[in-house]
Amino acid sequence: MLLLSLLLTCVLYALSCSARALLVGSRDAVYPRAGSLQQVTNFGSNPTNVGMYIYVPTNLASKPGIIVAIHYCTGTASAYYSDSPYATLAEQYGFIVIYPQSPYSGTCWDVSSQATLTHNGGGNSNSIANMVTWTIAQYNADTSKVFVTGSSSGAMMTNVMAATYPALFNAATVYSGVPAGCFYSATNTPDAWNSTCAQGQSITTPAHWAAIAEAMDPGYRGARPRMQIYHGSVDTTLYPQNYYETVKQWAGVWGYDYDAPQKTEASTPEANYVTTIWGKGLQGIYATGVGHTVPIHGEGDMEWFGFA
Ligand SMILES: *[C@@H]1O[C@H](CO)[C@@H](O)[C@H](O)[C@H]1NC(C)=O
Repeated sequence: MLLLSLLLTCVLYALSCSARALLVGSRDAVYPRAGSLQQVTNFGSNPTNVGMYIYVPTNLASKPGIIVAIHYCTGTASAYYSDSPYATLAEQYGFIVIYPQSPYSGTCWDVSSQATLTHNGGGNSNSIANMVTWTIAQYNADTSKVFVTGSSSGAMMTNVMAATYPALFNAATVYSGVPAGCFYSATNTPDAWNSTCAQGQSITTPAHWAAIAEAMDPGYRGARPRMQIYHGSVDTTLYPQNYYETVKQWAGVWGYDYDAPQKTEASTPEANYVTTIWGKGLQGIYATGVGHTVPIHGEGDMEWFGFA
């Protein structure tokens, strides 16, 4: 009797152990390891070969939010992971960070081709959207807490993501970019530089900028991402005029009167910065004396995204 129960205990123990091993094994296979930057290669269709890196916090929320954090030219996923505060903030708030990586030499983003400027057009924006969709399914993420941000070329791409995939994102923060469509290439060249736009000479009306953004996901009538636009007054890479053109674009999309913002707050969020609020969907933050790029304001982002 004793022998039998001992035997039974052993068998049960072995079974539970192997079941646990199986579970851990499959969990490892589907979940990139938490607490470090990991590459994901099987996130779905990726015709332009954009790299996907992900930071899953050790302290993962049960229905986590997602922040897509997009690097600048010459940057990489790993550089933006190290230089930006999002991974640290992810541990604090439990969200996941996706760091896409540009496939081009010089590592700017394609914000110029027809493909990338079109919803499901097969360009870089399409690949990044597929990363988000994969992550939502994989981690049972909260679809109302998906955000996008980036610096410089990554800021241009943030505007493009908000225009091409408005249904995917609740809000965006743009650190020193240009309006969606401003880097448009007349010869449909991917990853093209556009000096006219960079130098602040692509100037048009809120209605025209809005029409350009809206044409990127034609027929879409749903909610739009809330937009927070930072720019520095002495930016010589993407001239400060791009601040005004970008806020015109989103004022147009949100139906705000660009010329009549709700309010302007001096010295906000810090000295020499002015915050202009058009409504819940649009804030512009103009930084006097700041060049390219405006430093990431991690705590401000947490508030804008609703984590803090
Ligand atoms: C640069 O972008 C503007 C729109 O911002 C466009 O009108 C112009 O054709 C583009 N230039 C090139 C060389 O494609």
